[in-house]
Amino acid sequence: MGSRFDEMRIFAGNGNLALAQAISERIGVPLGDATIVKFSNENIFVKLNESVREKDVFVVQSLSAPHLSDRIMELLIMLDACKRASAGRVTAVIPYYAYGRTDKKDQPRVPITARLLADMIAAAGAQQVLTIDLHAGQIQGFFSIPTDELTAMHLLVRYFADKGWDDLIVVSPDVGFAKRARNFAEALNAPLAISEKRRVQHFGRKDGNYTSPEILNLIGDVAGKRCVVVDDEIATGGSIMEVVQLLEREGAREIYACCVHAVLAANASQRLQASGIRELVTTDTLPIAPEKQWSNLTVLSVSTLLAEVMQRIHSGVSVDTIFTQRNHPALG
Ligand code: R5P
Repeated sequence: MGSRFDEMRIFAGNGNLALAQAISERIGVPLGDATIVKFSNENIFVKLNESVREKDVFVVQSLSAPHLSDRIMELLIMLDACKRASAGRVTAVIPYYAYGRTDKKDQPRVPITARLLADMIAAAGAQQVLTIDLHAGQIQGFFSIPTDELTAMHLLVRYFADKGWDDLIVVSPDVGFAKRARNFAEALNAPLAISEKRRVQHFGRKDGNYTSPEILNLIGDVAGKRCVVVDDEIATGGSIMEVVQLLEREGAREIYACCVHAVLAANASQRLQASGIRELVTTDTLPIAPEKQWSNLTVLSVSTLLAEVMQRIHSGVSVDTIFTQRNHPALG
């Protein structure tokens, strides 16, 4: 099918330049020329240095730390600049969507920031959104504009499938992730264990809403097995560390971990390196600073997947068939 728009343009914020560059190389469309500056008063200014009039524009921005609020503002301002420059269509490509954990009003007088951010993205000028593995499915519904949520779990599945292990057991770090972990285990033809986690609220701390994970129980037998703990993201590493300690106590033979989004906040990287995890496998939805990388960290790229989907969006071709063809090259 041909495109409604004769040309595609890709612009990148500073949230994950390496990934944006890799996507643009795969598609064969160079990154658009834009100036992004932060003035001494901390106001951010964006200028697109080329015309986007009636073009099919993709703005790639991962909502990453450090400087998360700047990354959000860059995205919003770039979308506004595209809209005001008469872009034909604007798609916000957000490999990692921040504030996904603030997705419900589960205490009195708290916001639903994941919804607020979705509203701001649409108000700024995005006509559609392309993202990967949202923290919770309901966030899709927070967007008033068409939203394609991809999954990068296939990349992780293929990586572990290629190891050819027959004593593997997949471990879900909590009950909430069990459904996605079940799909992961099924794709690997492996059994599933589930750890039961609860978050303990620490009131009275200066940071107000701090919680820490506490593992209560393990459902499943991991003794003597190779365990692969799978999660959507690793932030402080608190959840995964609790699970690793539990698996060690339960006699696991080897422990591996994987996640789509390596947030690796604070000293998570050091804690994981010092843990019993043999290898952490993740993707490049977020940039990982060199000082947070280590020899047993494997990073798989989502650039092929995003590039393929962006081309399909541009051409008006179904995205679904990528995921229904198990061996599609875009899946790793
Ligand atoms: C929890 O709901 C998520 O699936 C992850 O387990 C969580 O976001 C990881 O956070 P942290 O690494 O800070 O425990």
